[in-house]
Amino acid sequence: MQLWQYKNFTINSYDEIDSTNIQITNAAKLNLIHHNHIITAKKQNAGKGRYERVWSSPSGNLYFSILLKPNKNIAEISLLSFIAAVALGQAISELDLNKNLIEYKWPNDILINGKKVAGILLESDVAHGQVNFVVVGIGVNINSNPDQTSYPATNLQAEKIITQPENLLKIFLDKFSEFYDKWLNYGFAPIRNLWLKNAFNFNKIITVNLADKKLSGLFRDFDDKGNLILELENKETIIISSGEI
Ligand code: BTN
Repeated sequence: MQLWQYKNFTINSYDEIDSTNIQITNAAKLNLIHHNHIITAKKQNAGKGRYERVWSSPSGNLYFSILLKPNKNIAEISLLSFIAAVALGQAISELDLNKNLIEYKWPNDILINGKKVAGILLESDVAHGQVNFVVVGIGVNINSNPDQTSYPATNLQAEKIITQPENLLKIFLDKFSEFYDKWLNYGFAPIRNLWLKNAFNFNKIITVNLADKKLSGLFRDFDDKGNLILELENKETIIISSGEI
């Protein structure tokens, strides 16, 4: 394991780990680490995706988790995944010499040319209505991607975007600090605007998988709380806080 510093971030780099989200959560619960601590690994044996899915994690790609202790209430915590998504989208755009189509798929995937290249898993520790800490876990396919996925996947190399995991991590952290500070100083509006500019399927008919049903309608808006606003055929609007397009 290596311990290093990048700007305001303290980083533990491992060769192999079960999951950066699991390890950072354990360390945070024991109070061993602070705000802006990062755990990254070349390879994960038990990478976690959303909805208890497995996040395939062979070496070559980027896997990391950031520990955050924002002084915010529970309702605002989910905004962190959009802040991370916009930071990652901009970091990837900066490396992309061919101006590929980079989009944000609600709630927190990054697509290149319509295929998923990165995912974000937000986990928080909340007690008595207070947020103790938040973990933002990010996986970016840099030179490989699984092929049996529910949504088509790609990797940066396949889209002719050439980088190394550590290089992308540093560019991401530059952007993330910038947007995190923007959020604290000016609220969510500036990030919401950037997210919306490149939102996948905005103003199109989409189907959202909810826990108990599927809903189809027009992707009408993305509000200041990170909710998706769906307009049904009968013009009724529904506010959706969690689900999958
Ligand atoms: C998704 O389902 O799209 C979210 C995937 C998140 C994967 C990352 S890889 C680094 C961190 N550690 C994990 O176990 N998961 C996240």
